[in-house]
Amino acid sequence: MPTNNSLTITDNRTGKSYEVPITDETIRAIDLRKIKVKDDDFGLMTYDPAFMNTAACRSAITFIDGDKGILEYRGYPIEQLAEKSTYLETAWLLLNGELPTKDELAAWTNTITYHTFINENLKFVLDSFRYNAHPMGMLIAMISALGTFYPEAKNIFDQEGRKRQIERLIAKMITIAGFGYRHMVGMPYAYPDNKLSYPANFLNMMYRTTEAEYEPNPALVRALDVLFILHADHEQNCSTSSMRVVGSSHVDPYSAVAAACAALYGPLHGGANEQVIHMLTEIGSKQNIPAFIEKVKKGEGGVKLMGFGHRVYKNYDPRAKIIKNSAYEVFEVTGMNPLLDIALELEKIALEDEYFVKRKLYPNVDFYSGLIYQAMKFPMDMFPVLFAIPRVSGWLAQWSEMLNDSDQKIARPRQIFTGSARRDYKAIEGR
Ligand code: ACO
Repeated sequence: MPTNNSLTITDNRTGKSYEVPITDETIRAIDLRKIKVKDDDFGLMTYDPAFMNTAACRSAITFIDGDKGILEYRGYPIEQLAEKSTYLETAWLLLNGELPTKDELAAWTNTITYHTFINENLKFVLDSFRYNAHPMGMLIAMISALGTFYPEAKNIFDQEGRKRQIERLIAKMITIAGFGYRHMVGMPYAYPDNKLSYPANFLNMMYRTTEAEYEPNPALVRALDVLFILHADHEQNCSTSSMRVVGSSHVDPYSAVAAACAALYGPLHGGANEQVIHMLTEIGSKQNIPAFIEKVKKGEGGVKLMGFGHRVYKNYDPRAKIIKNSAYEVFEVTGMNPLLDIALELEKIALEDEYFVKRKLYPNVDFYSGLIYQAMKFPMDMFPVLFAIPRVSGWLAQWSEMLNDSDQKIARPRQIFTGSARRDYKAIEGR
């Protein structure tokens, strides 16, 4: 029945008109299936490679306005969370929808802290990797292996069990990541220290040597916590969509998180901060910037300005602004990162250049984060791991939301078949 909130579509092949309801500025793709030329047609589909204009879920977790450069978790602006919250509080917010009370936060922090240990057998998994294995490859394998220690994790509709797996995953991420680093550098594994905060404990497992009690610099701990907050969720990006798609098969959360990590590893997603450092190092000095920009504009050898551009933000990424400020605080402790000057100049030139202005290409979260990580002595290979650690809370919040959503089914896109028409098998002699 016709309503104002609807779309009338006329199929010019048949002259027939169809009424399709509009809800939340969206039409349901499945409503187009009734548009047919013949009764036995499959019906009209939408073609949307890379999901440029398709909402695949309803979500109450993260809001982004890409044109205005706004990012909010559960309604709270990212700038306020970065200034006032901690990563663990933010993770609770993402998972539960509200900020925790004092008691809830204390209990949550305690639970996460006491779940940081991993089964000793997992160390054998790590030991089987070569010294130069990429830590992201090790992380993906370790998360998957971790899941095998909790066979009950497959009971994903058991609410208490689901909560426990979420706690384990968030807690053990820093241990797996820290152990992976120690394996890389050939140092003995440093165990969690329950007196430390989540980010401090991670630094402890990365860098502790002979100290009885490791005390990381509070400014660096806070900077890492802020980076964790900024990376905790970002609605339906490539890795989160992977989490949802893989999770939609009702596999256990460890397997789904491992898949999301694999998606994050790619250089167009969480691997970009590593690429930014490679790019800045290759540019080498400020006077080489104009020539580099020209190379990017000509698309020579597929060169891109890494850390620039975003599918959703067509304005300055709000996270990049916060990270840029945090960088100065970190450099006060660590000393200046010489690549910062090149980055600042590159940003200045790019933001004035017509190529970037026209395409609305601004610095994204990865443009400055690598500089901070490098100053904090994280090897470049660890950068995507640093992204994955906090993103686990966002992935798990999105996964839980999906499991509770009665609209969701196993993900299964359609295709437009472009292959050969039916033909008969040809014996090898006749080919
Ligand atoms: N450098 C140069 N040109 C660029 C860049 C860039 N970084 N990003 C986009 N463009 C150009 C494209 O070539 C295209 O130009 P055209 O219209 O002349 O063909 C135009 O801008 C539009 O870009 P798309 O590739 O269509 O944008 P899309 O939304 O598909 O890609 C992406 C977004 C993947 C982030 C892209 O901007 C990119 O590759 N950036 C560099 C990698 C990066 O920093 N990734 C991190 C993203 S943030 C994150 O995942 C946490």
